[in-house]
Amino acid sequence: MSVHGEIRRITTNTLQSMKQKGEKISMLTAYDFSMAQIFDDAGIDVLLVGDSASNVMAGHETTLPITLDQMIYHAQSVVRACKRCLVIVDLPFGSYQGNSKEALNSAIRIMKESGAHGIKLEGGSEVIESIKRIVSAGVPVMGHLGLTPQSIYKFGTYTVRAKEEEEAETLVANAHLLEEAGCFSVVLEKIPASLGKRVSEALKIPLIGIGAGMHMDGQVLVMHDMLGITKNFSPRFLRRYLNLYEEIRNATTQYITDVKNRDFPNEKEQY
Ligand code: KIV
Repeated sequence: MSVHGEIRRITTNTLQSMKQKGEKISMLTAYDFSMAQIFDDAGIDVLLVGDSASNVMAGHETTLPITLDQMIYHAQSVVRACKRCLVIVDLPFGSYQGNSKEALNSAIRIMKESGAHGIKLEGGSEVIESIKRIVSAGVPVMGHLGLTPQSIYKFGTYTVRAKEEEEAETLVANAHLLEEAGCFSVVLEKIPASLGKRVSEALKIPLIGIGAGMHMDGQVLVMHDMLGITKNFSPRFLRRYLNLYEEIRNATTQYITDVKNRDFPNEKEQY
């Protein structure tokens, strides 16, 4: 599908053929127009409007408080910025766990009101009916297994998941269920690399990892972590490409100094 003249939009089919060709998929989170525009211009394949907005945009401790309306607001801003990449939006906690009809209604609201290209939801066998219903309504669905932050109060910690054989086998079984239910891709979060490799080799759909090792078909990071805006979060899997916290802080202290010292604005910076 070609949109906006020369630019070819990334679709779920593009991701599938990237997996077949062994081409890695790049994915980041985004929550606002300006950052999404930069990421899209840089050539990112997928932007996820993650419910991590609850943490990094709203300052909540977990992803649980963010609402469907708030996710739609973030998604609208991101979609407006993107000419090329695929935009996927998280169904927030409480908008799909009740039953498959509620899940479908939430997915439809996201698609109609934001213009996004698909949704993501967390879980395995317990959400299969919802996934099938959403997929049969024509909405692409991305799954999410391993560390699923909406269940943090069940897990109790953010440590690596599926290290033990029983949990690993459950994860593999759930990954197969998600593929059979029609998911176009699955995120695997914070699991051993060997398990990530096993799942990626077993499934035909692309697996996107965050802390799931080098054998994933693609990688995703939260933009605030990748850019070094978050300071006190340093899991082993995180590579920081900038130290924006310090850079922005330094720029801000310089601005304050310039204003206080009557250095800003100077003669050329006024009318
Ligand atoms: O909400 C989010 O940012 C996510 C990623 C960690 C995959 O789900």
